[in-house]
Amino acid sequence: MERTFIAIKPDGVNRALIGDIISRFEKRGYKLVAMKLLKPSKELAETHYAALSSKPFFAGLVEFICSGPVCAMVWEGTDVVKTGRTMIGATKPTESAPGTIRGDYGIDVGRNVIHGSDAVDTAEREIGIWFKPEELVEWEPTMSTWIYE
Ligand code: GTP
Ligand code: MG
Repeated sequence: MERTFIAIKPDGVNRALIGDIISRFEKRGYKLVAMKLLKPSKELAETHYAALSSKPFFAGLVEFICSGPVCAMVWEGTDVVKTGRTMIGATKPTESAPGTIRGDYGIDVGRNVIHGSDAVDTAEREIGIWFKPEELVEWEPTMSTWIYE
């Protein structure tokens, strides 16, 4: 089953949005398979956002992510990478649709509350950066038959 890496950024944690965000993924029917709260090291943040290292906002982005805490999670379910991005909304909150997480809770691109992997291969890479294999929990929610046909 497909997995994605979701991280509630320091602004989302400090604004007490963890519960709401987890609730949205739970209610959608996705399965939480890993979760931890941490203050990321500079190395972790730089590795995570390595593809953006040439951007002018990179240093500020890394500093912001390292200010912590970050709530790092792995969610599992059909098409969760793409659907997760749809639930999160556009990168710039001013362009995110109402009803999306960023569209409901953000204004500034540098404080856009949440990260979600943008493809299945990046999800695998990011899960490997943030979690050890033994931190991913194998379990079967009893309600699965009410979510999947
Ligand atoms: P993530 O889920 O965090 O990866 O966001 P994204 O996939 O929607 O966008 P992208 O990967 O292109 O950018 C990563 C993060 O860099 C964004 O979520 C923003 O926090 C930040 N970012 C992107 N573009 C800008 C920008 O123009 N200015 C600033 N200050 N930050 C930006
Ligand atoms: Mg991205």
